[in-house]
Amino acid sequence: MCGVVGYVGKNNAIPILINGLSKLEYRGYDSAGVAVFDCGKIKICKTKGRIQNLQDKLFVNPLKGKIGIGHTRWATHGIPSYRNAHPQFSDDSKIAVVHNGIIENYMAIKEELEQKGYNFISETDTESVAHLIDYYYKSGMDILDAVFKTVERIEGSYALGIICRDFPNQLIAARKDSPLVIGIGKEENFIASDMPAILNYTRDVYLIDDNEVALLTADEIKIFDQNKNEIKKEVFKVDWDIEAAEKSGYDHFMLKEIFEQPKVVKENLSRRFKEDDSGVQLDTIKLDKKELLDIGQIYIVACGTAYYAGLVGKYLIERVARIPVNSELASEFRYKQPLIDEKTLVIVVSQSGETADTLAAMRLAKANGARVLGVVNAVGSSIAREADDVLYTLAGPEIAVASTKAFSAQVTAMFLLTLHIAMELDKISHDEFLTIKNEMENLPSLVNNILTKAPVIKRFMQKYINSKNVFYIGRGLDYIVSMEGSLKLKEIAYLHSEPYAAGELKHGPIALIEESTLVIGVVTQEELFEKTVSNIREVKARGAKVLAIAMKGNREIEKYADDVFYIPRTHWMLAPLLANIPQQLFAYYVALGLGNDVDKPRNLAKSVTVE
Ligand code: F6R
Repeated sequence: MCGVVGYVGKNNAIPILINGLSKLEYRGYDSAGVAVFDCGKIKICKTKGRIQNLQDKLFVNPLKGKIGIGHTRWATHGIPSYRNAHPQFSDDSKIAVVHNGIIENYMAIKEELEQKGYNFISETDTESVAHLIDYYYKSGMDILDAVFKTVERIEGSYALGIICRDFPNQLIAARKDSPLVIGIGKEENFIASDMPAILNYTRDVYLIDDNEVALLTADEIKIFDQNKNEIKKEVFKVDWDIEAAEKSGYDHFMLKEIFEQPKVVKENLSRRFKEDDSGVQLDTIKLDKKELLDIGQIYIVACGTAYYAGLVGKYLIERVARIPVNSELASEFRYKQPLIDEKTLVIVVSQSGETADTLAAMRLAKANGARVLGVVNAVGSSIAREADDVLYTLAGPEIAVASTKAFSAQVTAMFLLTLHIAMELDKISHDEFLTIKNEMENLPSLVNNILTKAPVIKRFMQKYINSKNVFYIGRGLDYIVSMEGSLKLKEIAYLHSEPYAAGELKHGPIALIEESTLVIGVVTQEELFEKTVSNIREVKARGAKVLAIAMKGNREIEKYADDVFYIPRTHWMLAPLLANIPQQLFAYYVALGLGNDVDKPRNLAKSVTVE
């Protein structure tokens, strides 16, 4: 979604802001802008479209200044346009604001301010913030008080960067329900909505919490709580390599992240089995037999790809550890008044740790007394900080909008959780545990093996790129894999695709099958093989082309499918991780073949911080 950066220091802010914004491009945006304090005035440059357009404009009309704010906007209120791009000015250009999030009561504020003579130029909710600060400031408050008063009035979510013409040396920031960090430099300081924006300059950050306001100069950072008391925060050290947020020679972040998966899976397994081979060690999470027996019910809650990883968890915990699990879309969870109490364990799964719906679901669960376990990738994110326990998925920064390595990491976490619960509750024997553990430890090399076959998938892409509709079908775990495969194709290839439980086809959707339809049949689960094969034969009989994903050694499928991609043999419960890799590559190559912007697909944002 939108990105915020800000700079105050001894250097020219413009290249720093542009560099920061370019590191946030992956979040998805449709316009960009910067504002700097230049020769006694705040000067703005903004534009619809890519950061390159902004740079082109700045090349023609250069700006310079030692303090500035920048923004990439993902339109919510008003179309992508010059007028609606941020920074937004107050009436007489005294105050400039960049904002991530949504101001829910902006219409009421707008009406109130219009009656006081304020003139609104944009359709954005953000403009009301700029005018409201201006209003309080001009009514006699000092600028910090005016910001405090404004954040008290506004409802919704915000990460704000604010500069005021009367204070050429200070930058103000505020946060509620939208991520914001402060980068600590030497004679310079930064604000950003996401770490990559400032990693070129510093690894030392303060993580700003909800309702806090910060005042930054080149030499000083003051952070205040909502009662305006200055507070001291611990410095958080970012331990990523800067290369982790670079393409490192790959054409796209997505491809790089797909190829990082062996390393990511290995990292997730390392130190997570007890040394004496007696079970799983989930970092500092206890969740032992006593605690587990005390739990009345389990929910797994997430959005999108993370939700599918959660579905794998539900399936496995129920089937292997034999306890019921509810799996819920975070965007629906709150509205069904879920039956949560102190005996409920809610597992929230999130790569970013900032997804608005997941965060809100987690807060609801906590408010009802549930214990929350976060399965989170982004260290220091809101979910990681607010959950009772965190199991980090150790995938490093995921930059491409389409989630790949984070899914593999989340699914690995689900394998570990399943084994842990099953062992604690004596639902599997020690021998079974050892068999699965050994197979898990093989996963990194099996993933690697699949990746060496990327050229095979590229050939399938050439053969099937003109398919009009794509169905992904499977049963059991293969159905869950189908959902993730279909989502990936939709989001980056923009091809219409549907996942179906194979047995459901004849209850309606089979009517859509025709000669231009591609059916991707996922058939890794031996016990369901014959059943899914019958469904494959049904779609073949109606003219569809079938590309199957099967476990190595299962040659029978070749009789029914036009093409087969074999994944290496593994334990049935681990197959989803392997079967998904060719799907990721397929979506990647199809998107590329269709000329799409793989890393920044249209209409999408990396981290969905609005509901
Ligand atoms: C799909 C994708 C999204 C995310 C979803 C949840 O490729 O990336 O569906 O999985 O928006 O995001 P997180 O995991 O950050 O909560």
